[in-house]
Parts: sequence; C-alpha cells; structure tokens
Amino acid sequence: MSTKSQQLIDLDLARGAHNYRPIEVVLQRAKGVHLWDVAGRRYVDMMSAYSTASLGHGHPQVLKALARQAKALDVTSRAFYNDQLPLWLDQLTRLAGMDKALPMNTGAEAVETALKLARKWGETVKGIPRDQVEVIGCEGNFHGRTLALVSLSTEAQYRENFGPFTPGFKIVPFGDEAALARAITPRTAAFIVEPIQGEAGIRLPPPGYLQRARALCRQHRVLFIVDEIQCGLSRTGRLFCFQHDDLAPDLLILGKALGGGVYPVSAVVGQAEVLGVLRPGDHGSTFGGNAIAAKVSMVALGLLSDPELIARVTRLGDWALAHLREGLQGSPLVRDIRGQGLMMGVEVVPDLGARCLVDALKERGVLTKETHDVVIRLAPPLVIRKKQLRRALDAVIEVVREAETRLA
Ligand SMILES: Cc1ncc(COP(=O)(O)O)c(C=O)c1O
Repeated sequence: MSTKSQQLIDLDLARGAHNYRPIEVVLQRAKGVHLWDVAGRRYVDMMSAYSTASLGHGHPQVLKALARQAKALDVTSRAFYNDQLPLWLDQLTRLAGMDKALPMNTGAEAVETALKLARKWGETVKGIPRDQVEVIGCEGNFHGRTLALVSLSTEAQYRENFGPFTPGFKIVPFGDEAALARAITPRTAAFIVEPIQGEAGIRLPPPGYLQRARALCRQHRVLFIVDEIQCGLSRTGRLFCFQHDDLAPDLLILGKALGGGVYPVSAVVGQAEVLGVLRPGDHGSTFGGNAIAAKVSMVALGLLSDPELIARVTRLGDWALAHLREGLQGSPLVRDIRGQGLMMGVEVVPDLGARCLVDALKERGVLTKETHDVVIRLAPPLVIRKKQLRRALDAVIEVVREAETRLA
C-alpha cells in the first residue's frame, strides 16, 4: 500500500468512529464501472455502493442535471413548493403504477416513513386500537440502523447495547408464508419484506412466496410493504423487483440508485388510501424532495427505466450466474451461487470466509465486499460490459481456486 493511502487510513481510524471495516483501498476517482485509488491504480466496481451506482459512476446526464439544477435552485425546504418535485412525483408514481409518493433522503428514513404510514393507517383506517398496532418483518431483514429499524432486526450485533427497543414488531422466517399466516392478528397493520434479502447474503425466497404472502395480506387487510432499496430500480432485470411475481404492493420503498449515484434520494410510493393519512406536520424532512434531489432523480429514473437496459441486465445476469457456476463447479469451498439479474452472491464455507477472497480480489483489481462473513457480493453497475464482467468473474473464480490449492 502507498504511504499516502496508509496515512489517510490512519487518519480515518484516529479521527473517525470505527462503525465500518472497509477494504484497505483509498479511492480518489471514479468513472463508469471503474474506480481509482490515490496511487492511480484502477479497479472494476463490483459493489456499486450497495446498488447505488447502478448507472455507473459520474453518468454524464446525471452530472449535467446535478450541476444545472444546483445553479438554478438548490435546497429551499418543503416550506415552499419547487418546480421540480411535482414532476418527479408524477414520473415516479406513473412508473410504479401508484397514486402518491413521499420523498426522503436515505433508505432508513424511507423505511421509517413507511412504518409510520402503516401505524397511522392501522389506527385511523383499519381501526386498530391506539398504540396496539403491530408490524411483521422477516428474520434476516435489513432495513437500516435507526432505533426502530434495529428493533425490527434479528441481527444480534445491530441490537447489542442499543436497547430498549421500539415495541410493536413481530418476526417471521423469510420465505415461510405459514408462519406469516400464524403471526397475523387483528392488530397487524403491515408486513414488510425485501423481495431479495441483500445484506442477509443475497437470499431469494422460494418461488411463489411473495405472491402467497401478498394474498394473505390482502385477505387479512394487512399492508404489503416491499423494501426495494437495494433490489429495485432494474437491479434484478425488472424495473421493480416485485414485478417478477406480477404483484402490486401497498407500499414500495426505494432509495440508493434513485439518486443516480450522486445524491441521497429515497421514497415511499403507494396508494392514496395509505399516503393520504398524513396531515401537514405529521412527518417531514428538510432536504427531502429538494429541487436538486428531484431533478437528479428524474434523470436517473429515465435512464434506469430504459427497457433496453433492463433487458440487458437479465441477459448479463443469466450469463454471469451460469459462468460462475461453470467456473466454480465442484469447488469444495463453495456452498452456493445465487442471484437474480446483477445482484449475485457466492457463498463459501465458513472455515474459509469471504473476507480473504475479497482482499485477494482487490489485489486483482476487483473491488467488492463480503456480506455476512461468508458471501462475496457481486453487484456491478448495470452498464457494465460483458467483457468487463467476464474479467471480474474470472478473478472471482481464480481466487477461489487459489484458496483451494492453499488449503489442500
Ligand atoms: C434493503 C435495504 N433497506 C434499507 C437500507 C438502508 O438504507 P440507507 O443506508 O440509505 O439508510 C438498505 C441499505 O443497505 C437496504 O439494503
């Protein structure tokens, strides 16, 4: 590692809280699918900032919109209307086939917003007695790390020493609709689910699960909320991941790629019956829905909803999974290779762990991060070319094969 990198890492460690354990690379520049460190070394991005950089880094149309809008009108708060937000609301709701949207900034804020909507809808529309509303979530979920969201989490580390927790949450196993049916009571306002669990290690539910869960929710008048902050916006080969199952959620939560990779933009989208419960003052955000966010997001949505891009993701994703499965066939170190579109994971045996492989990938010019200790996350920008993807996947295959030789 260069001296400059080491100095910056030391400064970060000395002056910052240690709430992350980053890969030891100090980035300075990005363009398209590539990242450069402070020593000028180039890497291919197989992370996309957890699905944020789906359009690649520094997309020219996104940057142009950002610069122009920042000059024209920046942050004025929701104390006033601005000339961009209504257009973004219209675009987003049309794309989602829903009535209304509510802008926020980060994913966690949008999930909190959805939970507040569910609680107020539960009391004022469904008629659940005051302070009795329950929301059901899934084991292994990741919805963010605010106090309410760690209260909903089943991850020991996210909770340890952060209690007391927010009441009103129940947990059921992911993929088990019988457990969901048992958990629903007259006090249940909502069920929240990631169509593909990202942070849990790219976990896909059994086929048909989401449809059956959706039907159960409809039957019991429970809101069906999908958190597509990571898996949405064409990442899996459909604009919205729920479209694979041909269903309509009551609330859709988006973030990450919604800001074009350059600006924090998140949203809750849903039907008027639910979003209509909010009155002025019930909820808000100073930055949420500002003109820059709205303009940048409109451009991002335009690009991400391009049918050609979406079809490409399906083609590349199918090819990539097959390529990985072929290249890693018979490896005693690999437990599973899974994914949908360009959201993939390679699960290795716990004795090996994914961190050493991810570090070895860095040495080969491929940047990604392990999730849940044993899964290599593979989620490149959706604009990656097949040749670039092939090189990155071949590097994954090589580092696993090398580890086999080392451990033999
Ligand atoms: C599914 C899901 N929900 C919520 C979040 C939280 O988003 P943010 O980090 O922007 O608050 C994430 C972040 O990884 C996520 O993957």
